[in-house]
Amino acid sequence: MRKPCLLFAGLITLGAGLPACGGGGSSGPPPETDDDFPLPLAMGRAPTPPMGWNSWNKFACSITETFVKQIADAMVASGMQDAGYQYINIDDCWSLADRDANGLLQPDPVHFPNGIAPIAAYVHDKGLKLGLYGDRGTETCGHRAGSQDHELTDAMTMAMWGVDYLKYDNCPDPGPNPGPIIEPRYETMRGALDMAEQASGQPIVFSICAWSFYEWANRLGQLQRTTTDIKNLWAPDPNSTETGSIMTSLKTNLPLAAYGGPNHWNDPDMLEVGNSIGGDPVTDVEYQSHFSLWAIAAAPLIAGNDLRNMTDATKAILTNKEIIAINQDAFGLQGVQVKQAGQQSVWAKPLNANGARAVVLLNEADAAADITVRFDEIGLRGGSATVRDLQALADKGSFNDSFTANVASHGTATLKIVGAEPPRPRSTAYLSDLTPIYAANGLGPIEHDLTNGGVDSGDGKPISIRGTAFPKGMGMSAPAAAIYRLGQKCTSFSAQVGVDDSSTGGAGTVRFQVIVDGDVLFDSQNVDGMMPAMPVTVDLTGKRRLKLLVTNADDGNALDRASWGDAKVECDP
Ligand code: GLA
Repeated sequence: MRKPCLLFAGLITLGAGLPACGGGGSSGPPPETDDDFPLPLAMGRAPTPPMGWNSWNKFACSITETFVKQIADAMVASGMQDAGYQYINIDDCWSLADRDANGLLQPDPVHFPNGIAPIAAYVHDKGLKLGLYGDRGTETCGHRAGSQDHELTDAMTMAMWGVDYLKYDNCPDPGPNPGPIIEPRYETMRGALDMAEQASGQPIVFSICAWSFYEWANRLGQLQRTTTDIKNLWAPDPNSTETGSIMTSLKTNLPLAAYGGPNHWNDPDMLEVGNSIGGDPVTDVEYQSHFSLWAIAAAPLIAGNDLRNMTDATKAILTNKEIIAINQDAFGLQGVQVKQAGQQSVWAKPLNANGARAVVLLNEADAAADITVRFDEIGLRGGSATVRDLQALADKGSFNDSFTANVASHGTATLKIVGAEPPRPRSTAYLSDLTPIYAANGLGPIEHDLTNGGVDSGDGKPISIRGTAFPKGMGMSAPAAAIYRLGQKCTSFSAQVGVDDSSTGGAGTVRFQVIVDGDVLFDSQNVDGMMPAMPVTVDLTGKRRLKLLVTNADDGNALDRASWGDAKVECDP
């Protein structure tokens, strides 16, 4: 039951200066059993990646009240709602360019003659939620009224209408290096949404659309666009200066994986699945890849096609519950590419069950190819594991050490592999000698006993922090994360952390954190290459999972070579 909206009458208009606040939510306490899993679902406005539909990709400004209601009907009738889709998001062009005499946003009287509230009521009656579009500037990208200097008014207006989700855009184009200019505008709306929720009881998911990743946006929004606009193309057209495509969004989003998680998802933009009917030539094989890769990347699944008129293939892709389950998995990790060989790659994401991994084998070549995943590449021990094909919804059986599939050109195999977690560490164990269950890095793979060099494996130098050499340790590039299982048998973690001397004389700035069973137990704050190695010791008694996290220190990731010298755990023999 929704609480009624209080307090609309006394609205005030605020500019910058509302308090900032966090995206909310935490992963909650660890389970009390001896098993590592399952973890409970996080709290907050978006504990799993939001799922829904948005009008922009296919329909742009051709939207009306009747049309939106038809889409809501189709969301239910097509089985999309049953598969987990929730939000009906109206994008740009729903409002007029001018505010009314009271300074309020005005729904377009021709296309939305009854305003937004009846549409919200209509979708709520169906058990769905309504999303709306706004902009941090003076006008939206479609030249409608923006919310700058009207943030609280607009947040209260939307809460009163029953809006559940706000996509907040970034027009007028702020130009190069806009971060410090636009951050206060998004912060102001974040504060306004919180005040509106306090006054009305209406929580609104904040979907930041600033076309590029920002650390502040990771803190402010439940999701943030990490890319420019996706286009309904598999890869960029070589004859065009336009770079948007499915592969472009996927690859721009990939190095940011360490930042993804409950209530702060990375958003590589909305789905194009099913948008090629009579249009750009993206095949169903490519759409399946698009969907599987968005699923494993823990990307918001926001369809953009005409739900009233879907082919069987489109519907089957969008409503595949086993692939959706890997996206919605409560462990909340953004899957990463764990291996690339030419135009074939292996992507993996640990799932919320012992030994369970989602895996996508991607073939970007123009001809079919065999792709092999070795179980030790996805953070499992070698040996036996079962494999299920999530596209065919068929068990493939039990396999030893590896699994190979023949994958069509631009196609994927989407798999669930269940094997044995790597052994827990014993005695004094250097992390560089262990298998992490998850490893995400800003530049190529995390290096063991070397600094992070470039994109290739093993291309770093010996670890050195302000002249102190460390023969053992982990070399990362921000943003990076690695997770190790402890099996409740370890007592401490220790390391000496700092910007590596290989980072052009230590020119980067990073922040190191040690997160144990969801709690941050060490935080270096921002460190730069002028600082000597900082010692870290963390108690691990009775704990299950150790996560090392390196972030960009709010200044981008240039030269952010982050080394964990001498990183080790002390455990039972
Ligand atoms: C920007 C956004 C798109 C869409 C349009 C609407 O380009 O990135 O997703 O919302 O504006 O004008």
